[in-house]
Amino acid sequence: MVDLSVEICGIRFKNPIMTAAGPTVRDADSMLKAAEGGAGGLVAKTISVTPAQVPRPCIVKIKDSILNAELWSDLPTEQWLKVEYKKAKQAGVPLIASIGYKADEIRELAPKVAAAGVDALEVSTHYLGNDPTPVVEATKAAKETAAIPVFVKLSPNVPDISQFAKAAEKAGADGIVAINTLGPCLAIEIENAMPMLGSPHGYGWLSGQAIKPLAVRCVAEIARAVKIPVIGVGGITTGRDVIEFIMAGASAVQLCTAAIIRGHKIYGIIADEMVKFMKAKGYNTIDEMKGLALRHLPEQPLRVTPKPVEVIASKCTACGLCERHCPYNAIRVIGRVAKVDATRCYECGLCVSVCPTRAIRY
Ligand SMILES: Cc1cc2nc3c(=O)[nH]c(=O)nc-3n(C[C@H](O)[C@H](O)[C@H](O)COP(=O)(O)O)c2cc1C
Repeated sequence: MVDLSVEICGIRFKNPIMTAAGPTVRDADSMLKAAEGGAGGLVAKTISVTPAQVPRPCIVKIKDSILNAELWSDLPTEQWLKVEYKKAKQAGVPLIASIGYKADEIRELAPKVAAAGVDALEVSTHYLGNDPTPVVEATKAAKETAAIPVFVKLSPNVPDISQFAKAAEKAGADGIVAINTLGPCLAIEIENAMPMLGSPHGYGWLSGQAIKPLAVRCVAEIARAVKIPVIGVGGITTGRDVIEFIMAGASAVQLCTAAIIRGHKIYGIIADEMVKFMKAKGYNTIDEMKGLALRHLPEQPLRVTPKPVEVIASKCTACGLCERHCPYNAIRVIGRVAKVDATRCYECGLCVSVCPTRAIRY
């Protein structure tokens, strides 16, 4: 019997799939819909001491990713404290309030938000550079003023994210959330030579599938560096993605872009996909999979001599994707099955990653 539930800092989640701060959790009504859609926990849109003046346009889709310049919530803080958090609690799943950004703002907000009845705080950080001091100060400000768990959300725009995670842990963080968006980035509409976003310089921040490998690397690095739980976020769209984050050491995950693109039902769909995978592989709990990949991340290359890939003929559908992608002309569909030319195969691995039926193996 597969059990997707997880416990983080004493908070029980029915599944490890939470919302991430963004437009899909901009108010209580949106959060109630996310919970209806199957989210195991709710992280609300970041608030600060004053409402944001959001540039328009502020969201643009680029393939399966998004660039945004949305900043934090443009609703008044009082509305969040008096109305939105209380109403969102009616969803019956844990509620995490996201607050930002500077230590003095966090010190002012944290006790008020905690008093509004949320289960935990997420401190959103968005720093570029190499100095973790602002993250440390923000973490301490939250821990000193609120008696609920404090998760610190880190930006990937730093040279060594594990140092930031360690610094936050030392400052008292109860968990790390990784990662925030990547950037700054720029997208130009060539019909009129204008930036697609209305922000200063047209700059925006990247999220969605393009940042997933970066997020997984950050989670793996952080999971090895700290003892507190890590919550993974960045590019999750499927149950397999969630499992990848968990195998990289995450205790739970969040998602934003996929919910923008596919709607609130995505949380339940992903949970079902996880159950299917776990049943097929014989995993019963999230804990059984947690960090499984960490022991397979060698410091030295595994091997530098190629071993030609193998095709499992019974699984091959002769779709030809491997042949089309192979940069070495080493695999061809002959008759009803793909055949590997061992003299040409570089064992680059690309065919293994594109095969839709997993019919090619190392
Ligand atoms: C439109 C938009 C608005 C966002 N707003 C916030 C925010 O208010 N606070 C925050 O910490 N992160 C914010 N994020 C970042 C997401 O919470 C998340 O960390 C990031 O998008 C990576 O996850 P994803 O690929 O699943 O979207 C926002 C992302 C998007 C796309």
